[in-house]
Amino acid sequence: MSNFTPVYATMRAIGAYVPPKILSNSDLEKMVDTSDEWILKRTGIKERHIAEADVATSDLAVEASRDAIARAGIEAQDIDLVICATVTPDYFNMPSTSCIISNKLGIRNVQAFDISAACSGFVYGLSIAKAFIESGMKKNVLLIGAEKFSSIVDYTDRSTCILFGDGAGAAIISATTDASEKIIDIHASADGSYSDFLMTPAPGTVNPVTQEVIEQGLQYVKMKGNETFKLAVKTLTKDVKEILAHNGISSDKIDHFVPHQANYRIIKAVGDSLKLKEEQIILTVGKYGNTSAASIPMAINDIYESGRLRYGDLMLLDTFGGGLTWASALLPFAGKN
Ligand code: COA
Repeated sequence: MSNFTPVYATMRAIGAYVPPKILSNSDLEKMVDTSDEWILKRTGIKERHIAEADVATSDLAVEASRDAIARAGIEAQDIDLVICATVTPDYFNMPSTSCIISNKLGIRNVQAFDISAACSGFVYGLSIAKAFIESGMKKNVLLIGAEKFSSIVDYTDRSTCILFGDGAGAAIISATTDASEKIIDIHASADGSYSDFLMTPAPGTVNPVTQEVIEQGLQYVKMKGNETFKLAVKTLTKDVKEILAHNGISSDKIDHFVPHQANYRIIKAVGDSLKLKEEQIILTVGKYGNTSAASIPMAINDIYESGRLRYGDLMLLDTFGGGLTWASALLPFAGKN
């Protein structure tokens, strides 16, 4: 008989941080031709948080990480892998924001790297953390989604500047031998044929920084909003149905559906397609806007801090973003309350 004990990956703790400054819809009314009513009706967003000029993505990430590490009951030294999902790194393209975060947290001589999957970054990162842990290579992964999205937003473009906010979320993904705690399944996918739906054309090898590039505003996020919206509803609906069916789990067993917080109408459409009750659906888009890779861990932290998220609760995560990328995950929460 073999003595082999399988090792699983589990979400042991969550943390998040938002910078204090708020940009409300009425503030935006003074900046572009828009209205509180239009923004609320089309997106569900009331306000978003914006970091000060001297605050970097890594600073937001460090605050979120400190909470997650403390709540996991571990020390920074116990972490053996740091992954930061971001499309607004401290520097394009080196050093990675993960290296800067590790240094600020006092984590030394540990593998650290960033991943770029836009709004899907956290769930993509979860799949990487899971693989590292289940292969036996790592024991405690600090997985972060952090964005200073305001740094790539053109505040004269009303079609995008109303949508995005800044923030960070962090989770500790650890090894466990308790099968009831394991991350059950993750589906992640991409289709690069839609790469122009949501992009920042510069800086990069296609458009290196020049005066002309800056004058054209190519460093700012561009989005085919309506096309992205339709594809998001279609893809997310299909994706959540597939992951539930694949694992033989019906939607009424989900304690918390935690979708990417881009637009209330997208979330409602996906929730309706699964016949979810209002109390199953986590909504934070109204107060944070779209914080890209940070949105899902920030939303998990919200229900954790409000006491709604309990040990063993089943979560369904679902996200969609630039690339285009999309991903869903089924997992219990295995943190202490
Ligand atoms: N205030 C007022 N009017 C605005 C506006 C604003 N902030 N932004 C756009 N409009 C106008 C448009 O100019 C257009 O006017 P027109 O009909 O005279 O041409 C009209 O509103 C409708 O624009 P449209 O882009 O078709 O609206 P929409 O219903 O698709 O809503 C978004 C726009 C951006 C809110 C929506 O498309 C969206 O949420 N897209 C997906 C975002 C997303 O999910 N991203 C996912 C990955 S992060």
